[in-house]
Amino acid sequence: MWEKGIDEGMVQQELDKASSEDLHFSDGRIINSMCTGPLPISIKAHMQFIESNLGNSGLYPGSGSLENKVIEQLGQLMNGTDISGHIVNGGTESNIMALWIARNTTGKREVIFPASAHFSFVKACDLLGMKPVSVPLDENFTIDIDKARQAMNQDTAVVVGMAGTTELGLIDPLEELASLIPDGTFFHVDAAFGGFVIPFLKDLGHDMPAFDFQIPEVTSITIDPHKMGMSTMPSGAFLTRNLEDEDNIATSAPYLTLLKQTTLSGTRCSAAVASTYAAMRALGREGYRQKVKDCMDTTYFAADKARELGLELVKEPVMNVLGIHMPEGHVPVDVRSKLKERNWMVSVAVNPQCLRLVIMPHVKKENIEILFHELKGVLAL
Ligand SMILES: Cc1ncc(COP(=O)(O)O)c(C=O)c1O
Repeated sequence: MWEKGIDEGMVQQELDKASSEDLHFSDGRIINSMCTGPLPISIKAHMQFIESNLGNSGLYPGSGSLENKVIEQLGQLMNGTDISGHIVNGGTESNIMALWIARNTTGKREVIFPASAHFSFVKACDLLGMKPVSVPLDENFTIDIDKARQAMNQDTAVVVGMAGTTELGLIDPLEELASLIPDGTFFHVDAAFGGFVIPFLKDLGHDMPAFDFQIPEVTSITIDPHKMGMSTMPSGAFLTRNLEDEDNIATSAPYLTLLKQTTLSGTRCSAAVASTYAAMRALGREGYRQKVKDCMDTTYFAADKARELGLELVKEPVMNVLGIHMPEGHVPVDVRSKLKERNWMVSVAVNPQCLRLVIMPHVKKENIEILFHELKGVLAL
C-alpha cells in the first residue's frame, strides 16, 4: 500500500488516463455488451445514494421504500401480483439466489436448464453443490421439450427456462415447459435480458409468448435493470412469487438493524436501487417502448446489411440480438479478432457457431453501417 497519499489533482490524472484506455458506450463501437450507457438521471441518482446501504436497511428507510417501489413495479411488469424480491448485483447473483432457495426448500439438488442458459447457472451449481443438467436445444435453438421431460426426475429441484438467451435473444417454449414441471419443483425464468424487452415488444404489437408470472408455475424471475433497464451497473433483480420460501435462505444478522438477511450479498449499496427507480420513473412504459423500438429498428437494419453481403442469419431476430453465420472458410472467432483490430467489438456464439451482435440503445445505424463496411473488408466480399 502506498505510504503517502498524493494530491487529488494527480489522482484524477491517473484516473483519467485509465478511463481513456477503456472503451465507452458513447463510442458506438461496443456491439457485444448487454449493458449500455445509463440514463443521466440514473447516474445522478446513483451518486446521490452512493453511501446508503440496504444491507443495514434500518438506517436507510428512504432507500428501502425505493426498493419496495421498484420491486412492485417490476412485479407488475412481469404480470405478477404481490411479488417480492430484491435488487442485487446482477443476473448472476439473482440466478444463484433462485437455485439456493430451490435447493433449500425442496431438499433436492438437480438443476435442469437449456444448453443456451447463461454460464451463471453452472457457476451457481458449483457453489451450491447442485448437479447441472444441461438439456440440448432443438432446431429452433431453444430447449428440446422431449429431452427436458426425460431429464426431470424425483431429484429435480428447479427447472430453468430462458426468456431472452444470451447468445441469440430467443425465448424457450415456457408454457410447454411449465406443463411438464412436477408439483413442488421450482420453475425459474431467466429474463435478465428479455425482461426489459419482451413486454415492450408485446406493446408494440409483436406476437410474444407468455414468459413471466402470467404462467402460474413460474416461481421466480431474474430481470436486470443494468441491461435493457437503462440503469447503472450493478443492478439486477430477483423476483419471487413466494416470499416465505426466502426464509429457507435467511441468516440472522444480530449486529445489524435488520433481524435477518435473505440476500447473498451483505452490503448492498442503495445506488443500484435509486438508479433503477430513476430510470423506471423517468421512462415509464412509454419510454422503454421507444428504446426497444429503436433497438429493433437498428437490429433489422443490421439484418438487412448482413443479407446484402450474402450472409445468412441464424434466426430472424426476436429481440435486439443477432446471430450471423460466417461464410465457408471464415471462423467466427477469427472474424471477431480481425474486427477488434479495426476497433469494433463484436462477439461470437457457440450454439451454433456464429458472429453475434447485441444492438443496445448506444448502437446507432451509422455505427452498423461502418461495422458492416469493415466486415465486408475482413471477409473480402
Ligand atoms: C440471460 C442472462 N442471464 C444472466 C446473465 C448474467 O448477468 P450478470 O452479468 O449481470 O451477472 C446474463 C449476462 O449477460 C444473461 O444474458
